[in-house]
Amino acid sequence: MKVYIETYGCQMNEYDSELVKAVLKDQNLSFTTSLAKADIVLINTCSVRENANRKIYARVHEVRHLKKDQSFYIGILGCMVTNLGKELFDLPVDFLAGPDSYRRLPAMINESIAMQSTILDDKLSKQETYQNIYPLRQKGVNAWISVMRGCNNFCSFCVVPYTRGRERSKSLMDIYNECQRLADEGFRQVTLLGQNVNSYHHEGNDFAALLDKVSEIDGIKRIRFVSPHPKDFPGSLIDIVAQNDKICNHIHLPLQAGNDRILGLMRRTYTQKQYLELVQRIKEAIPDITLTTDIIVGFPTETAAECKDTKNVLEKVRFDSSFIFKYSERPGTLAAKKYPDDIAEEEKTRRIVSLNELQKEISLQKNQSHIGKVHDVLLEKKSTKKSTQDYQGRNDGNKVVIISKGPYQIGDFLRVKIEDASAHTLMGTVIAPQS
Ligand code: 5AD
Ligand code: SF4
Repeated sequence: MKVYIETYGCQMNEYDSELVKAVLKDQNLSFTTSLAKADIVLINTCSVRENANRKIYARVHEVRHLKKDQSFYIGILGCMVTNLGKELFDLPVDFLAGPDSYRRLPAMINESIAMQSTILDDKLSKQETYQNIYPLRQKGVNAWISVMRGCNNFCSFCVVPYTRGRERSKSLMDIYNECQRLADEGFRQVTLLGQNVNSYHHEGNDFAALLDKVSEIDGIKRIRFVSPHPKDFPGSLIDIVAQNDKICNHIHLPLQAGNDRILGLMRRTYTQKQYLELVQRIKEAIPDITLTTDIIVGFPTETAAECKDTKNVLEKVRFDSSFIFKYSERPGTLAAKKYPDDIAEEEKTRRIVSLNELQKEISLQKNQSHIGKVHDVLLEKKSTKKSTQDYQGRNDGNKVVIISKGPYQIGDFLRVKIEDASAHTLMGTVIAPQS
């Protein structure tokens, strides 16, 4: 049988889909990138906002419609399963496996085929890290690797602690060995993943120790990580990002809100001042740091003046880019229980538009400040832009850099002089391969 997987949501889901492929490959299933050819369709889902859920409902019906003349099995994986459980029995699906149930997936598929009924496993585990499963990755430049799973923070808006359970970390040596194997297979970059990646701890090793260990691997030239929480940013972590050349000078540091009352209601555990102080320490230690963030507008009871505080933080920090979301009430979270979703949709739209406009201006100015500078670019792929003549890579700060086609290979490191910039990308010409 041929399996087709569609993945929604965060990078952890991308990684999980690769894990699932490894589990299924062991059962002699093969894979296809064509929905039409698939005997088993898997949809790996996200629940972080309501529109993510809505998209999946629509997609399941669409897949049923597109393949209506074929016999096939369809399964839902990931956060929607642990979020909604039996409610998903309304959907025309054959099996439902939450993020900690993937080892059982082959048995579930067999069971659902044998019993002709819908099988659900939405149990969460305190231990599961999928240690010993080596994900089936597509060859490329970057490999995702989950170093910890779950979240203990219970920010009041967030469904993740309910959909992915408690924090647990993989052993340092297992991660090191996996990265060594990735380097042997030709991956030049690893991105360490976790819902709270910097809460990583295993047998006395913290996240800084993990970064240090992974950087010992010769073949790995770049190390990235997402997403850290501002509460777990000791000086030792800033120092290692500053001092270790392999660890990219990019930190994604979710702010969520700039107003102290809202940060309190969100249970983020820091104030605006503490966040700004952390940014200051990072900027002092790493002057060329690229900083990006996540922001939520329209949290219950947030006033326009309080949203202005978020805008002020944007202006002070001058993030290179921001992902800005409208608050979406998630059933079961503390915020959903305590605070009615009382900010009108139009007001949320006004706030998101206003913040996005400001961010776009800042992004453009920051990108333009790179014109004339030389960056090390790791070549990732042919550009998705219309011109097929272009290549696309990223600089140390994770910015997309477009260069003209040349005698280069995906995976090459190039020294590129930046000639032009938009709010989203840098454009440059290659001066030389990196020494
Ligand atoms: N509503 C809107 N955005 C949310 N996020 C998490 N939960 C919600 C929610 N209920 C955003 C946060 C987080 C990012 C991954 O998604 O900004 O950092
Ligand atoms: Fe959600 Fe907060 Fe955990 Fe991030 S840290 S996953 S926002 S609960």
